[in-house]
Amino acid sequence: MLPAGLMASAVVAASSANLGPGFDSLGLALGLYDEIVVETIGSGLIVEVEGEGAGQLPLDPGHLVVRAIQCGLHAAGLSVSGLTVRCRNAIPHSRGLGSSAAAAVGGLAVVNGLAAQVDSPLLTETQLIQLASEFEGHSDNAAAAVMGGAVASWIDHSCDPPCYAAVPLRLHPDIHLFPAIPEERSSTAEARVMLPKQVSHYDARFNVSRAALLVVALTERPDLLMPATEDVLHQPQRAAAMPASAEYLNLLRRYGIAAVLSGAGPALIALTTEPELPLEALEYGAANGFTVSEMAAGDGVRWSSGVAVPG
Ligand code: HSE
Repeated sequence: MLPAGLMASAVVAASSANLGPGFDSLGLALGLYDEIVVETIGSGLIVEVEGEGAGQLPLDPGHLVVRAIQCGLHAAGLSVSGLTVRCRNAIPHSRGLGSSAAAAVGGLAVVNGLAAQVDSPLLTETQLIQLASEFEGHSDNAAAAVMGGAVASWIDHSCDPPCYAAVPLRLHPDIHLFPAIPEERSSTAEARVMLPKQVSHYDARFNVSRAALLVVALTERPDLLMPATEDVLHQPQRAAAMPASAEYLNLLRRYGIAAVLSGAGPALIALTTEPELPLEALEYGAANGFTVSEMAAGDGVRWSSGVAVPG
């Protein structure tokens, strides 16, 4: 049992999954961060949320960050008699920007900030990816939030439970990232129901070629981003549920900008070697309820012992 009075904090990034053809595999952390500060107390649970989700999220053991902390404590062989959890959220919810994965990864990582104070073994990067993916279900977002930058993730189904793994990709420095975030929301679970149970060999082949190309485009040949971000496995099927995003995506692509749905949407992300998007494309986005601005790639999750949120 950890003593009362220990503090720890974590900072964790938003992420875009899929990046077009890399369905459930490729991910990219974005420079937009949630912060978590915890303190062990004698008894009870106090949860506070500022920013995104304030007034909407449950302030009880059902809160995702609290559940992730409990999962991390269990994995680390630790327990607490009571806990205060403060969340300062900047990642918009239900937009396809990995807010749930960030909550899972942040909650697990903050346990390391507690464990370090009692010389208990820390959760490794591999454990963070495994636990967060098991917990939240999407290793593409979870691995990006753990490792930062761009990642390729996969599931080894020969393990029981399945093993989640990922490798970092060295994102080409000429690539600029422009998320386009709508007011409209969508749940990943609902957006997954839109997908067929089976796909044709032709479509599978199409996406395999584009996903392979996308790894090259992201790391070495950003001039190939347009063909490399084509997808037939999930974006067309999801378009009917998010028509404004589908239209904006098509418009950006008509301008020659490699735009894709961010995760299951409805946010988009445009990847380009140009430092700016065309003015007309920005104006269209603003007129249709999208907030569009350049964002750096995100860092991997950081944690610290004590109250200072890691900078
Ligand atoms: N890869 C998942 C999907 C999203 O597209 O359903 C994970 O955020």
